Formats: sequence, C-alpha cells, structure tokens
Amino acid sequence: MNRFSVTDFLTTLREAGCDLGEPFSYFEEVDSTNSLVKQYARDGGLHGACFLADHQTAGRGRHGRHWHAAPGENLLFSVLLRPRLPAAMLSPLTLVLGLGVRDALAAETTATLKLKWPNDIVVHQTPGALPPQASEPTSTQRNAGSSPFRKLAGILTESELSLGEEAFIVAGIGVNVHSQEFPGDLAHLATSLALLPRAATSSPGFTREILLTRILQNLSSWLSRYQHGGLGKIHQALNEHDALLGQAVRVDGRHGIGQGIDERGQLLLKTPSGTVAISSGTVELT
Ligand code: BTN
Repeated sequence: MNRFSVTDFLTTLREAGCDLGEPFSYFEEVDSTNSLVKQYARDGGLHGACFLADHQTAGRGRHGRHWHAAPGENLLFSVLLRPRLPAAMLSPLTLVLGLGVRDALAAETTATLKLKWPNDIVVHQTPGALPPQASEPTSTQRNAGSSPFRKLAGILTESELSLGEEAFIVAGIGVNVHSQEFPGDLAHLATSLALLPRAATSSPGFTREILLTRILQNLSSWLSRYQHGGLGKIHQALNEHDALLGQAVRVDGRHGIGQGIDERGQLLLKTPSGTVAISSGTVELT
C-alpha cells in the first residue's frame, strides 16, 4: 500500500495558506472517516479539521450505500465545518462543496467534469472519449446499466444541530485518484483521475498530498463565496456544470428531463405535468 505522507501534505497545505485541513489526522485504516469526524465534532472539535484514511472498512456513501476504494490509491477524507450559517442554508452546502471538488479535479484533466446533482463529480463519456478501462463491461452489463457518466468523486455531508448549539457539518469526500480498475458493476460506472487525460495545469508529480491541498483550497473558496453571497452568485456555476441538463431521469419515482438547478439548489425536472423542483432524492438515469 502506498502510504499517504502527512509531512508532504502539511508542507503543501501551509505553503498554500489554506484555512481548512488542520488539525489533520491520518489513519492507515478506519471504519469511516465520517464517523470519526462526527464523534470529534460532538466532542468539541475544531472547524477545518480533516481526517484522512488510506483504507476504510465501512466507507459510507449516500443512502447507506458502501463506498468502495482500494487501499492507498485514493483520497478518503472528511472535513469538519462549523460554517455559522442559518439552518436553511445548510442543505445546499453539498452542492457548494461539490463545485470546490469539481474545480480542483478539473484542473488536473482535460476531460469535462460535471456535477451530478446533488453529490457526484462525474465525467461525461462520449464513445471513444475515455481510454478503455482494465475491466470493461460486457455488452450485457452495458445494456443493463448503461450510463453516460462515470463517477470520479462523491460527497457525503452529514450535519447535526442540537438545541442552543451551532450546527456542524461533516463533509466526507471520496476521490478516485490512482485506481486503474474497479470491481463488478463499478467497472462501467466509475473512473479515476489516472484514467483520464492529464491537463497542462496538472499538479507536478500528481500526488494525493498535493491534490488534497488543491481540493481544500477550492472548498474554502466556494464556502466563503456561499457565506458571503448565498446561492445567488453560485447558481450560475451550478448550471454551467450540471450533468443532468437534458438527461432523462427518475428521481424517487418521478420521471422527467433535467432542466437545471434553481436559485435554491433544487433540481428542476420537466415532467408531463409541468416543471417540478426537487429538493432531495436519488437520481437514476432512464
Ligand atoms: C456518495 O457518492 O454517495 C458519497 C461518497 C462519500 C465517500 C467518502 S470517503 C470518505 C468519507 N468517509 C465515508 O465513510 N464516506 C465519505
């Protein structure tokens, strides 16, 4: 396993002068960095703290799904945020953080990266645009689970608000960095930065330590824009990078065509009975 270097990371982070990322804790193996940071937050942990693991035995995705990541190849980390925002501003945070992760990853590749509402960073695959992956799906798999997207990163935000206390948010982020292949169904649903064409602006050496710094810098900058201007200013960026625009989808039983993201961060769907705004749900492409 390729061990994450805390020294290299802290050197880069401090050079960048980023306000997120410290205190920093590294774990070779944990159940889930989100669970650890949540407990740390309940015990009074500091805004900006970041816990990273090289391996998770019970990594979680949204809706209780398992987050698969081969040990030592990817970024698996959680950041504690105490953003001092009114409760109504907490739920769009996943989208705001998604823009940060997207921007940091987009600087590393010439592939077009999009935000798949509400929490995925995906590559839109046009036939022949992506290099073949080690375990390409069979044609049956492709027909059964055909998707124009491959997932590069996912975000799981978990928040707690107890009476009389400021809310905290745990932003758990998984990025596929060096993985060359994915098991089972993931073979045709996931990709990694290493499998995408490199950008001229790509970080030298392309290390996880540098990439984590870039992600934290971008999270910090989008978070600050949100704190100062709300979703109003961010709305345009959300629509620029909306993966679901024009896509036929089903969200918890509702079928429609993606029409963008509204000023409240809701997904707009054009359905046979008119346009509906959806504030949460699981998106499936149809
Ligand atoms: C999703 O796409 O459903 C969200 C995936 C989030 C995975 C990350 S990996 C680090 C952190 N710890 C977890 O248990 N989950 C998040």
